Amino acid sequence: MKNSSQTKRIHAPRLAPQYIETIQPPLYRASTIIFENTQKVFDRHWTDRYDYSYGTHGTPTTYTLADKIAQLENGNYCLLAPSGLSAINLVNSAFLQSGDEVWVPDNIYGPGMAHLNYLKQSFGVIVRVYDPLNHHSFQPTAQTKLLWLEAAGSVTLEFPDLVNLVKKAKQHQITTVLDNTWGAGLAFNAFDFSDEHLSVDISVHALTKYPSGGGDILMGSVVTQEHKLHLKLLHMHATQGISVSGDDCAQIQRSLAHIELRYQQQSRSTQDLLHWLKQQSEFQQVLHPSNPLSAGHEFWLEVCQDQQSAGLVSVIFQEKYTLEDIRRFCDALQLFKLGFSWGGPVSLVMLYDLKGMRSLEHPHLANGFLVRFCIGLESSQDLITDIQNALQTL
Ligand SMILES: Cc1ncc(COP(=O)(O)O)c(C=O)c1O
Repeated sequence: MKNSSQTKRIHAPRLAPQYIETIQPPLYRASTIIFENTQKVFDRHWTDRYDYSYGTHGTPTTYTLADKIAQLENGNYCLLAPSGLSAINLVNSAFLQSGDEVWVPDNIYGPGMAHLNYLKQSFGVIVRVYDPLNHHSFQPTAQTKLLWLEAAGSVTLEFPDLVNLVKKAKQHQITTVLDNTWGAGLAFNAFDFSDEHLSVDISVHALTKYPSGGGDILMGSVVTQEHKLHLKLLHMHATQGISVSGDDCAQIQRSLAHIELRYQQQSRSTQDLLHWLKQQSEFQQVLHPSNPLSAGHEFWLEVCQDQQSAGLVSVIFQEKYTLEDIRRFCDALQLFKLGFSWGGPVSLVMLYDLKGMRSLEHPHLANGFLVRFCIGLESSQDLITDIQNALQTL
């Protein structure tokens, strides 16, 4: 067949000579995956990862990253989603039906709660809130299907009583799911975190934070050990058309080589800052799981035996400071940039008013405006100087 030059530009031999070894694996970008013949079309099994059929079901690039994330978290299976929030929502959609009950910690990541409120209003899912520091406040019923855990919790960073909460859930055959973004698979093993080899059932991770490490890519993952749970999630993943870009996967896969070094460095810098922040009179409280004065410290010691932590630390200012004071402080920071998220090279700051953010009593938290610092990869001494200078504005 003699083809026109236009057709030739499209169909000319596309494969350069193969078989070179490179540090990073080749990158596949695919919506369409070409079948060899019609028999292969009829025989395809989209749930079989070696039977590639369409981009949404996976490519070698997405599977490579998924396998590495499963390995990072000591799980067996991993599904990727376009953001951490999307990974959270995938779990809720797969495990909750009308009339089911789900328990969430009071310090849950806010947008995750927003999705549950949507399921409550639209489908009659029952949402109950427990105190992560007190496992007695988690009171499952026959309707309870899911227990959400977050270690440490968002913004106020209380480390939960993971051991007793998971034990109780297991006694009642309730599926446990941990938002493991803070621990990142490095601070503790979500699938074996106690002397009694306790394990959560599902680990959700906002890969946007440490695995990306650049502050530029959004992605999430859902890791499991049990194939049965993975299959349930896989079907919802396919039903909802959840998929991720090959380019983004390749970028995250590249950053995974140094995730542990970055995590350790940010953990060390956070300790330097913590030491200094605790001595400043402007703050009533410095919240970090390694601070013996922070709620949940003993649970952190129990689970994070290498005493590592993500680079997040929050402070509650003295009550005399007004919102305008706190805004002046945040605006005066030079190295800390004002923005959401964490785990990237640039340190970030965000201000919060706890009023309206918690539904239970929280006597362990002082009244006053809260500022959360996310420690990046800058020198810790420079970060301290930046905060010191901004405090002068008060
Ligand atoms: C604890 C936690 N989980 C999940 C997410 C959601 O991740 P993403 O921003 O990728 O949606 C965030 C984002 O800040 C988070 O802090």
